[in-house]
Amino acid sequence: MEGSKILITGANGQLGRALAKIYPKAIKADSAELDITSPEALRNFDWSSVEIIINASAYTDVDGAETPEGEKLAWAVNDRAVGNLVDIANRNNLLLIHIATDYDFDGTKNGSYKEDDPVNPLSKYAKSKSEGSKKASQAAKKYIIRTAWVIGDGKNFVRTMLDLGKRGVAPTVVADQIGRPTFTTELAKGIKFLIDNKPPYGIYNITNEGDPVSWADLTREIFKQAGYDLKVINTATKEYFASKPGVAPRPLNSVLDLAKIEATGFTPRDWREDLREYIKKEISR
Ligand SMILES: NC(=O)c1ccc[n+]([C@@H]2O[C@H](COP(=O)([O-])OP(=O)(O)OC[C@H]3O[C@@H](n4cnc5c(N)ncnc54)[C@H](OP(=O)(O)O)[C@@H]3O)[C@@H](O)[C@H]2O)c1
Repeated sequence: MEGSKILITGANGQLGRALAKIYPKAIKADSAELDITSPEALRNFDWSSVEIIINASAYTDVDGAETPEGEKLAWAVNDRAVGNLVDIANRNNLLLIHIATDYDFDGTKNGSYKEDDPVNPLSKYAKSKSEGSKKASQAAKKYIIRTAWVIGDGKNFVRTMLDLGKRGVAPTVVADQIGRPTFTTELAKGIKFLIDNKPPYGIYNITNEGDPVSWADLTREIFKQAGYDLKVINTATKEYFASKPGVAPRPLNSVLDLAKIEATGFTPRDWREDLREYIKKEISR
């Protein structure tokens, strides 16, 4: 597929930036260039050369969405705007690629989440994303990619921990939320794989491969790889958030089952390998 026929919305976000590297010729739009919540902006956009929309935009401030203002934005960007994109995709026979979240689930399952497990979003952000993904499923041609713990060029957990490590701060980190990191380089590769190989339309989980880990153990690995000799103090989600009113609830289990995407022929890299490369780049930044 010619990159020039791909529109990346939210091109300035973590995933958007990684996609822009894989598809340098793509049409790239940040929210100033194309506000996907604006029917007028979408109407005025030139769709004539677009064959694929990759919607990398979202309102991703999970705690911000708990405030009245944030909640409004979350529903506008994560839900209604997806409906706008579905209309455009269906009217113009375009493929829509949309990104869903592990927050679809309440995290109570024993074992990894499969694509068709029933959703039960806990927070306002999660509810807006879940409804948006339902809308995306109405596109005639779609890949909905469910991911978790996204790490790329932007604000993310690994950067926060590296920053604390650099300053010699020993952090207290939750040890009862488990998942697998998803490096945007790998997520973008997975998206390209779907575009190139055209497996059946539908929903696919994509995170990095490797052993599921808690945020606390991920921090230990980050410090080990970065060479910071600092103690990481375990805490429980309940304890950590008790002192932070207004913080959104998070699922304790964010592990996504990768059997479906791997059956297509795409096996994501182990998260430890990508973490090593990421830290190397961050330290030399
Ligand atoms: N981060 C995670 O841990 C995580 C976990 C699971 C799933 N996801 C999903 O993965 C996807 C990518 O996440 P990410 O971490 O790359 O997000 P991100 O870095 O926060 O980027 C989101 C982008 O969306 C853009 N955006 C916001 N409102 C917009 C609007 N009205 N019109 C057009 N663009 C708009 C923002 O652009 P401006 O900066 O120009 O406003 C921003 O660049 C999202 O769907 C997210 O829900 C993320």
